[in-house]
Amino acid sequence: MINSADIIYGLAWGDEGKGKIANAIAKDYDFVCRWNGGPNAGHTVYVNGKKYKTHSVPSGIFAGKKCIIGPGCVINISKMLEELRMLTMAGYDVNLVKIHPNAHIITEEHIAYDKEHLGHLGTTAQGIAPCYSDKMLRRGKRAVEVLESNWIWDGELHGNVLCEGAQSVWLDIDHGDYPYVTSSTTMPYGACSLGFSPRKINRLIGVAKIYDTKSGVDPLFPETLWNDPVLNKIIELGGEYGSTTGRKRLVNWLNLDKLRKSIILSGCTELIINKCDVLEQIGEFKLIHGNELLHFTSFESMKDYVTNIMLHISDNPIHDIKWSGDVEKI
Ligand code: IMP
Ligand code: MG
Repeated sequence: MINSADIIYGLAWGDEGKGKIANAIAKDYDFVCRWNGGPNAGHTVYVNGKKYKTHSVPSGIFAGKKCIIGPGCVINISKMLEELRMLTMAGYDVNLVKIHPNAHIITEEHIAYDKEHLGHLGTTAQGIAPCYSDKMLRRGKRAVEVLESNWIWDGELHGNVLCEGAQSVWLDIDHGDYPYVTSSTTMPYGACSLGFSPRKINRLIGVAKIYDTKSGVDPLFPETLWNDPVLNKIIELGGEYGSTTGRKRLVNWLNLDKLRKSIILSGCTELIINKCDVLEQIGEFKLIHGNELLHFTSFESMKDYVTNIMLHISDNPIHDIKWSGDVEKI
């Protein structure tokens, strides 16, 4: 029986540092699971000062937890094997990783189609949309048909389950900035596709950053942002380069209107704001609220402003806000 399911997910456009949070709390769980996406995701995690980049494997691998890749995920087999080899060489037990039989398989044709036809959307060119399209057309290949049985999950989730989101609210296929979205349900309710009911959900841990970033294209992030010297400083100090594509991410000041919306839409119970130390080191404190760019004289005054807004969302009270740095690695 599942005792409770906690969900870590992104409140913005991805790259908020979800993996870091999942890694920090994974020890308290029996399972760490992924419910959506595939090799388009890039999770950067530091363990004992060493940097690891994963794409499909849940961050629970570093804590020696059972890691389940759910039916809503898509798998690139050769990339997956590469990732498992890297983890094995680093001393982690990859036998803990199991894939749900209904997860779908990305083919060479999916990747070729993505590269040829979807570049204008700024995709990660990993074959994600074509693979999910074949799934919906009910002609896709599933994990159970192609993977060796030792990789296939045939058990049941039980105890305390941590679900680790990939991508984020504004990349959600239904609620994101369509068509500049990904092809899966990034909203935390998507985690129920792992095979538990919404009644099991306990904590909804939403992760944001103290500034906004976008990998790929989105009209909400105009090209003129590239010309702003302070935002460029944030890119460099914050290391805002795609962990899957290596592309520079467009940076903008935190949009509090969007953050408030994504908190309400997703039912966030706890908010974590990452990379605060990047702004502290740069010494410029700005955010967008009510479509206006607001300036603050210190990080403390910006923090007070955000806290006051976020703790008073009447139709979605948040229990807790955590402010976290990222330049000093966990
Ligand atoms: P796709 O998921 O490769 O189809 O890409 C669709 C959009 O989602 C593009 O704008 C990508 O940059 C974005 N995207 C996909 N995965 C991630 C991620 O893990 N982090 C940030 N952006 C992502
Ligand atoms: Mg990422």
